[in-house]
Amino acid sequence: MSTEIYYFSGTGNSLVVARGIAEKTNGKLISIPSVMDKESIKTDADMIGIVFPMYHHGIPLIIKRFVNKLDNLDKKYIFGVCTYGGSPGICIKYLDKIIKSNGGRLAAGFAVNMPYNYIFPSFVLKDFFNSFALREISPEKQQKMFDNWKKKLESICEYVQAQKVGKFETKAEVIEYLVRLFLRETLQKSVWLKVAGFEGDTNLSFQESLQLMDWGFRYDDKCNGCGICLKICPERNIEMIDGRPVWQHHCEQCFACLQWCPKEAIQFGSRTSHGKRYHHPDVKLSDMIMHDEK
Ligand SMILES: Cc1cc2nc3c(=O)[nH]c(=O)nc-3n(C[C@H](O)[C@H](O)[C@H](O)COP(=O)(O)O)c2cc1C
Ligand code: SF4
Ligand code: SF4
Repeated sequence: MSTEIYYFSGTGNSLVVARGIAEKTNGKLISIPSVMDKESIKTDADMIGIVFPMYHHGIPLIIKRFVNKLDNLDKKYIFGVCTYGGSPGICIKYLDKIIKSNGGRLAAGFAVNMPYNYIFPSFVLKDFFNSFALREISPEKQQKMFDNWKKKLESICEYVQAQKVGKFETKAEVIEYLVRLFLRETLQKSVWLKVAGFEGDTNLSFQESLQLMDWGFRYDDKCNGCGICLKICPERNIEMIDGRPVWQHHCEQCFACLQWCPKEAIQFGSRTSHGKRYHHPDVKLSDMIMHDEK
């Protein structure tokens, strides 16, 4: 049986998960951004795994665009794995929905807890919109998650290699459905765009509007113009102008640019400069470089 494991990752958590599954199942590891320039993605594999981080209780926009490009999905065994920092919500069900609308069927969906790599409000009552800072996870807690992942890897591989069907790892489904029904396209969207400092109006859906959240990025005087942020960006959303990064507003919010900048010169809003940067310890910068152009 031939297997392909597709992954998207900003700070390496989903890459480590995808790499582990690919090694154990003898599958081919494929980066999703590397195939996104194709109009349609036709695969001969019998089993397809899709591994990605959870974003804002949902799936990254690139995963939706990727699944929509996949051809001939019927009769394939497809499984998904989301990595998450707090709670997996119904992320896997969102994936199931797009796969269904594209003629396939999600056989199983797993959720893997990994260190949180995004911003989080530091205080709620005062100056909420300017309070978002990086969340630091202690080395002990990180190690626990990595150890748990090693155990879970075995059970996921056993499950999918036996081609079992039906396991969908979700949490707090009712709350997620209520948020989706009443708040996602209104309150949730306006709060996050405000956190990013975006002041215009947009008709984009919440998921699509995250592309505009790069209004929150800036570089500080530690930037030396090395261009790594441009090379690491999976969306080619950074241009170097006069030797400094300029964000182009079609961002995935993967946070790779901020987390991997060797000078820690990229900030989001006003409170990230003292925050400890994160990437998975088993992933190197060279694993993350997407393209080489200047
Ligand atoms: C834009 C963004 C939104 C996120 N939203 C959530 C969330 O709603 N719930 C959660 O548990 N983790 C959330 N996270 C944390 C990531 O899902 C988690 O750290 C993931 O393992 C990162 O994977 P990666 O290293 O492969 O990029 C978010 C991260 C980012 C960058
Ligand atoms: S990676 Fe950091 S130091 Fe290098 S150009 Fe980008 S912002 Fe500047
Ligand atoms: S600009 Fe930064 S956060 Fe946005 S897609 Fe590129 S690397 Fe990710």
